[in-house]
Amino acid sequence: MSPTNPRILPYGTAAIAEAAALIRAGECVAVPTETVYGLAADATESRAVAGIYAAKGRPSFNPLIVHVPDLAAAERIALFDDAARDLATRFWPGPLTLVLPVRPDAGIAALVTAGLDTIAIRVPRHRAMQALLKASGKPLAAPSANASGSISPTRAEHVAKSLAGRIPLVIDDGATPAGVESTIVMGSSILRPGPLTRDQLFPGESRGPRSRDESLSDPGPRLSPGNSQGITAPGQLDSHYAPSKPVRLNATDARDGEYFIGFGPITGNETLSPSGDLTEAAANLFDALHRADASDALAIAVAPIPETGIGVAINDRLRRAAHR
Ligand code: TXA
Ligand code: MG
Repeated sequence: MSPTNPRILPYGTAAIAEAAALIRAGECVAVPTETVYGLAADATESRAVAGIYAAKGRPSFNPLIVHVPDLAAAERIALFDDAARDLATRFWPGPLTLVLPVRPDAGIAALVTAGLDTIAIRVPRHRAMQALLKASGKPLAAPSANASGSISPTRAEHVAKSLAGRIPLVIDDGATPAGVESTIVMGSSILRPGPLTRDQLFPGESRGPRSRDESLSDPGPRLSPGNSQGITAPGQLDSHYAPSKPVRLNATDARDGEYFIGFGPITGNETLSPSGDLTEAAANLFDALHRADASDALAIAVAPIPETGIGVAINDRLRRAAHR
């Protein structure tokens, strides 16, 4: 593969046909979803899935999310109880990932689940991922389309830069609308906060489902022996989203040499949302971090973000970005 790869093709019939042919040939292809760009491969072929891990440089104990076109396809792969089916009916297609027992006869490559007896599965809403699922006829394993440990991609250019020379094709359909990865739910626990908030998922619960901290003490799947963090979803590894520079949070003004990302009334080199809109801020978050990382500044500072609604997901990603 030449270092000028990947090719970037605009979303359309030709791009989807080419991407589906690559998927069927066991290659991986970057494709937008409503959350971030994913690096998709045939989830039923272990060699194709190995290609994802190789392109990302991802540790192989970190399991992947499987994308399917609809609930019926999901039920052929995972075992749903009533609560899971209720969430799926309410929020699919959309930015919700359910962790459920995997059907032993589902035909999913063991590398996808990293040996767990559960599987993370979702039905995406984005037209490009939906079209690729239908054209390829395969369930698609797809983590975020970035080199392991770096910032998630919300634009085709982010993918091309992060995975240059490692993948053949990116389908470009502009900036992803939500901007942070899907909310991951297992039972009544939120394993990873995302675009769908606790209140939306579990309305009417007096206290809401257990928080991430509490869910960490669950006797969840053991993903690596001796892992002191008791990780239920390995995306909770602290350094998962780190830019290459130090990140300072809850900053009210810039210090020398910092690229300052503002929010609401706090302005900076740029702002996540001048009006203080959290949905807009989520959509801009990774793009801003990519620009800050690429700038001449030595460090990054970010204004305080309210811990409400999708702000919970934004602060989760920012804490990981700040952890070194
Ligand atoms: O929005 C998204 O979810 C994006 C787009 C591309 O769909 N995908 C994404 O995938 O963020 P990835 O691989 O970056 O994150 C998958 C997360 C990881 O935190 C992983 O550990 C967790 O899902 N996961 C996968 N299988 C799991 C399982 N069986 N139990 C618990 N967590 C699981
Ligand atoms: Mg990721």
